[in-house]
Parts: sequence; C-alpha cells; structure tokens
Amino acid sequence: MRITVVGTGYVGLITSICLCEMGHTVTNIDIDDKRIAQLKNGRSVIYEPGLQQLLENNLKERRLLFTIDPRIAYAQADLIFIAVGTPENPDGTANLEYLQEAVYAIASHIEKDVIICTKSTVPVGTNEKIAEMIKDMTPSHLNVSIVSNPEFLREGSAINDFFHGDRIVIGTEDEKAAAVLQELYAPLKTEIMVTDTRSAEMIKYASNAFLATKISFINEIAAICEKVGADISQVANGIGKDKRIGSSFLKAGIGYGGSCFPKDTKALVQLAGHVDHPFELLEAVIGVNNRQHTLAVAKAKEAVGELAGKRIALLGLAFKPNTDDIREAPSLTILKMLMEENADVIAFDPAAVLNIQSIFGNEIQYAENINEALKDADLAIIATEWDQITQFPLVQYEELMKTPLIIDGRNCYSLSDIERHSITYISVGRSPHAQSAIARV
Ligand code: UDX
Repeated sequence: MRITVVGTGYVGLITSICLCEMGHTVTNIDIDDKRIAQLKNGRSVIYEPGLQQLLENNLKERRLLFTIDPRIAYAQADLIFIAVGTPENPDGTANLEYLQEAVYAIASHIEKDVIICTKSTVPVGTNEKIAEMIKDMTPSHLNVSIVSNPEFLREGSAINDFFHGDRIVIGTEDEKAAAVLQELYAPLKTEIMVTDTRSAEMIKYASNAFLATKISFINEIAAICEKVGADISQVANGIGKDKRIGSSFLKAGIGYGGSCFPKDTKALVQLAGHVDHPFELLEAVIGVNNRQHTLAVAKAKEAVGELAGKRIALLGLAFKPNTDDIREAPSLTILKMLMEENADVIAFDPAAVLNIQSIFGNEIQYAENINEALKDADLAIIATEWDQITQFPLVQYEELMKTPLIIDGRNCYSLSDIERHSITYISVGRSPHAQSAIARV
C-alpha cells in the first residue's frame, strides 16, 4: 500500500515514522521546504523523545520519503493521512485554511482510487465538506473514500501512544475504507471502533474537553483545599481510587497548556454555540484554567509584596515536561506578568529556552542549569515538572538562593521532604510551609 502523510508537525511526523516502523513505506509531504530539507538531512523538526533515532533508521532503510512535490505524494497514493494544523481563529473557531489547501492539492493530483483519512482535529461536519470538495474537483471514475481517524497522541510520549493507545477511532460510512484501516492498524492490537464520521469528529473534541474538565475541576478543589486546610494530593488520591472517576488527569497545578486543550476547548464552545447550545460547563473550565495561569505570580506577590527588582528564577518553560513546546504554556502568562511587575527574571528549561527566547529575547536572562538560575534569587517559581526539577535537591535552594522561597506550580516536592529544610514553600492546594528561613529575609 502506498501511504502519504500530509504535514510534518507532531501528528504528521509521528504518524509517518510510526507507520514506517510497522514496515510501510511512507511519503511525508509539507509545503514548508525548509522543514522538508531538514528532515531529508535526518534532523527532526520537533523535539520528541525517541523520534530522532527512528527518523534516522527509517531514512536509512529508505522506507521514509520527504517531499514538497504534490505529484509525487498524491498521484499514486492508496491511502492519504491529512495531519495539518487547524489553529485557532481570533473568535476561537478552528482555522481550516491549511486543511483546505491540502484537500485542494490532493484533489488536483490524485490519479487513482484513494482513501483520505483526516487526523487533524476538525469541527463536526468537516469531513463531509472534504468529500464534497473532492467530488467537485475529481473525475467521476475515481473512487475517493473519506475517513475521520482522530489522533490521541500526547507530546512527550507520542511514539508510545501510537503503538499502545487506548483505542483507535475510524469514522466513516464507507465499509471498504473502514476494512482497509482496520487491517492497517490490526498489528497494533489496540481496540478499534468504527463509528459514523460525525461521531468520530466529536469523539476527539469531547475527549479533550473531558480531560480539560478534570484538570479544571481538580484545580477548583485545590483552591478550596487551601481555604479549608485539606491537602489536594491526598484528596486527588482518594477520589481517583474510585474506578468510576479514575486517577489520571487529577494533578492540580497552574493549569493546562499545549497545542490541543486550549484550542480544542474553545473550538468546541464555538461549535456548540453555532448549533444554539451555550456550553456553559466548558466555558467555566476555560475560565478556571485562565485563572490558574496567573496563580503563581499572584502567590508570589502575596508572599513578598512588590516584585519590582526582585530576582526571580523561573524553573520550567515548556507547557509540560519532555517537550520544547511552549504553545499556551503557563510560563508565557507568568513571564508577561513578571515583566509588567518589573521583576528581574532568570529562566531555565532543559528544552524550551530557544522558543521562549524568540518571544522574550533579552528581556529576561537564561540559565544553563538550575543552580545558575537559583544563584542569589529572591524566589523561585516552578512552572513545569521536568525530572531534573523534581529531583533537584532541596538543600541547594537553601544554599544558592538569597531567600529560599519556592512557589511550586506543579507540586513537585512532598511536604514531608520540605519540612526537613529551611525553605518557605507555597504549592497548589496544600498548606504553605513557612520555615525559620523566612526570618532571614
Ligand atoms: C493532549 C491529549 O492528551 C492528547 O490525547 C491529544 O491528542 C492532544 O492533547 P498533550 O497536549 O500532549 O496531549 O498533553 P497532555 O499530557 O494531555 O497534557 C495537557 C496539559 O494538561 C499539560 O499542560 C499538563 O501539564 C496539564 N495537566 C495534565 C495537568 O495540569 N494535570 C493533569 O493531571 C494532567
């Protein structure tokens, strides 16, 4: 089977490389010639654990081909996966420009029967529109099947998620196309569900909205825990043991970010609005998350008052560990707020510094390691729970900082460990720990 994947972003590149790992030969097309040139040279365009090695292997085995030429990519393809971005419009709706461009290019170049499979997250009804567009543009003797095949890959563990997902959703009214995809995915031994196209499109949005809801829910409970003297870690553990609730996505913190949850929750609110259903619950989820992004700086101000001139170490910039992605990261809000307060910021992240630098330039300083960031700092804010950060010895905060004061937005340390140190420690949904060290301020 000749497979083409459109797009070299997270979803496109992971899909291409993992299909190659399954033994297929895949052509990966993008309109960005610089990205394609870099990939042809064997250098990944995204940071994802394990990806670089798989890229090199599959290029060497000649299973993976990169191109910007739509004729090469589409003319003889049997199966085309569309994995282009659907970014956010200013009103929160999904921007389908790249998707339309891809469909136009496909329709202009296909020369044989083909299955087109949409992996991009698209509003319900979009695949029907793709089918109409293709029908209008291609000769009637060509049989083109349209399938919605949403992805559930998490950045940082995307390769593992591809091979060991919880389910594979195939949304189509075309039984033959469904059978081809079932056969393609069969070696993964993951449960496959075949649904109608619109339901598949909705499964993607509803999954992300539900996970975002769990996060905002636990963050609200955390806020109440702080007021009533309960501990969110114990509470989350206690409720997560109930199998009906489940323990995942119950980690309180400074909110979700990334390329999916913020965009997809807003798009679903818009989608609901367009069919005259105000999605009040999801609007509240988004509102709570926006508030969480401001929490660390609010707590810092509460702890030390004026932040102007204070040396602040910001530990973690990526929206979550094991990625260099800063899209909608809480660190962006934190940095903007700290700049407004005229704080003196030094930031550290194992992977995302270059991305932050492209926005904040030399408005802030960048540290090579945690030690350098903490040196003579008045306070430290933890925004991402990288292993390097969670495993960093607490004694070093005491030794390096001017004032050992940590605002931990990701609850990286246990309160029992903190108690053994002279550190003032303010986390999320747990009692603050004020130590004698505060007397040194
Ligand atoms: C998400 C979905 O999980 C994935 O299925 C979809 O295809 C793309 O969007 P991703 O954005 O990579 O994946 O990250 P994920 O691991 O889901 O985390 C999203 C955000 O939620 C992160 O900012 C993370 O810090 C936050 N989060 C997650 C919490 O604050 N608490 C939790 O308990 C879990």
